[in-house]
Amino acid sequence: MSHPSMAGAKNILVINGPNLNLLGSRETEFYGRDTLEAINTRLVKRAGEGRARLAAYQSNSEAELVERIQQARAEGVDFIIINPAAYTHTSVAMRDALAAVGIPFVEVHLSNVFARESFRRESYFTDLAVGIISGLGARGYELALEFALEYSGKQ
Ligand code: DQA
Repeated sequence: MSHPSMAGAKNILVINGPNLNLLGSRETEFYGRDTLEAINTRLVKRAGEGRARLAAYQSNSEAELVERIQQARAEGVDFIIINPAAYTHTSVAMRDALAAVGIPFVEVHLSNVFARESFRRESYFTDLAVGIISGLGARGYELALEFALEYSGKQ
């Protein structure tokens, strides 16, 4: 997996929460027609061009998502791009995991969560995030990746 020429390369982790495995067929008026696999394929390609390593993870389980975030520190992940999906609005556990590992992250939402039901305006993540992208569809992940590739900890 890790190639010698990639030693010291930036390590980026993309995490997607519940129901995002259904992208492409799920409420396409909000989430578009791209599958998660298609999105991840583009992200891996772009990260490689930027001399970074990118791993993508999706789970419907809050416990597994917490475990994956915890594991990221041991793996030396430098930057996380995360769409916590419905857990955005409920998960203190995932928030605490991100706070515990202290890895900088961008929060991504395909839909504009501020233009929908009022409960979607509340996020347990935004105040810890470096920033948030919401409403730009699958492009949001790609724009977050461009930012992650440039990110040096300073703004
Ligand atoms: C979402 C928005 C959330 O409110 C919703 O629960 C999702 C997806 C988005 O990408 O727009 O599952 O995070």
